[in-house]
Amino acid sequence: MKKITIAIDGFSSTGKSTVAKQLAKALGYVYVDSGAMYRAVTLYAMQNGIISNDHFDVEKLIADLDRLKINFKYNNAIGFAEMYLNGVNVEHDIRTLEVSQWVSQVAEISEVRRMLVFQQQQMGKEKGVVMDGRDIGTVVFPEAELKFFMTASAETRAKRRFKELLERNENVSYEEVLKNVESRDLIDSTREDSPLKKAKDAIEIDNSSLSLEAQFEKLYAFAREVIEKK
Ligand code: DC
Repeated sequence: MKKITIAIDGFSSTGKSTVAKQLAKALGYVYVDSGAMYRAVTLYAMQNGIISNDHFDVEKLIADLDRLKINFKYNNAIGFAEMYLNGVNVEHDIRTLEVSQWVSQVAEISEVRRMLVFQQQQMGKEKGVVMDGRDIGTVVFPEAELKFFMTASAETRAKRRFKELLERNENVSYEEVLKNVESRDLIDSTREDSPLKKAKDAIEIDNSSLSLEAQFEKLYAFAREVIEKK
């Protein structure tokens, strides 16, 4: 059976990665979390004094881009790929609220986008990929055979994210998380380069009141249908 490309876009914390991982596993496809790549660039900037307190030296980050080696390595024990930055596993460090507070500003920079979009396209060359992000169906793989656009209310998303951060023992308040979700929505959807928007041919899924199982079944059914027609 021919392999396809599945693009999953949407606002932050809409559960894209959860369903993308489930789909990839069920189909025997590779899962790529494109947001992790923007987070890794952000972490690099934080670790190298490019971002500190309220200061962000955009020019220095652009000048440093060719020093960044960003790649995924499959971890057998957990069954998915983890993010590496210059040879170091940063899967945990890229998920903090601090990284979340800067990542949308890093993702606005065209030079950063160009570099990461190129890498993402290379990873998807052979198809058989489920990739989630903000511009996958519009910019990275405009020809993807199946595209989803995930939505849920900001409060629902902030509650999910807050729970995740608490489970990781992060010291944050719900209000901080909600503020971060809303400010990322605004930056991600209004930036000049590749703003978050629903591709014309994407299927919109509002998962505010869908269980994880129901959501997976819904997306999986769409995937089977497209793959069987191939
Ligand atoms: O999916 P995430 O929340 O981990 O993504 C982090 C940020 O990266 C998000 O706020 C916007 C940016 N991003 C992007 O601009 N394009 C993508 N394809 C993926 C993420």
